[in-house]
Amino acid sequence: MKKTEELPLLSTTPVAWGASALADPIALLIDHAFLEMKAALNAMDLLTRWPNEWTPGWVEAMTSVARDETSHLAQVTRLLIRRGGKMERGHKSYYASDLRRLVRNGKTSETLDRLLVSGLIEARSCERFSVLASVSEDAELGAFYKALHASEMGHYKVFLKMAHKVAPKDEVAARWQVLLAAEAKIIEAQPPGCRIHSGYQDVSLSQAS
Ligand SMILES: [Fe+2]
Ligand SMILES: [Fe+2]
Repeated sequence: MKKTEELPLLSTTPVAWGASALADPIALLIDHAFLEMKAALNAMDLLTRWPNEWTPGWVEAMTSVARDETSHLAQVTRLLIRRGGKMERGHKSYYASDLRRLVRNGKTSETLDRLLVSGLIEARSCERFSVLASVSEDAELGAFYKALHASEMGHYKVFLKMAHKVAPKDEVAARWQVLLAAEAKIIEAQPPGCRIHSGYQDVSLSQAS
């Protein structure tokens, strides 16, 4: 498994978060299933945000991510049902909503920001799966999270690659740094709980005391 340090994130989730999030595996799987569904929908939505009909690889990238996320959704749902859980109606991800609020208006700016925010969510999910894989005492879940870590790492790179196709290198780099800094604050400010993108500040404090 690739190390989390390869990710560009400006904050590191403590290992204690993993045990805390796994306290209710069914709740974590339900949240996870919705995130995979939303990731698939996001890729399909980006597909129609065709920045330029000549942008090479756009359709291939978005359909490939959507296909992977749909497969992840099927896997999570199977695990969930086998363990006696089910997807409930409605799901809110304040983490993703907070990040999406940073998306600027305007054709290129909006497309660039949506790609970078998508890349950030993939990178953070990748980091979280790595933590979950390292602490899970349930072999089936541990192997599942390990496999997802590799896939989400690939998605993060795809979105960054596409960002470089819609905006100049300097603009991408500058905006990426702004959004990385914002993401580190947003994830830390999330409430704790059995969710993939829950906060970890309270978990760290409770471990330290
Ligand atoms: Fe996924
Ligand atoms: Fe993904």
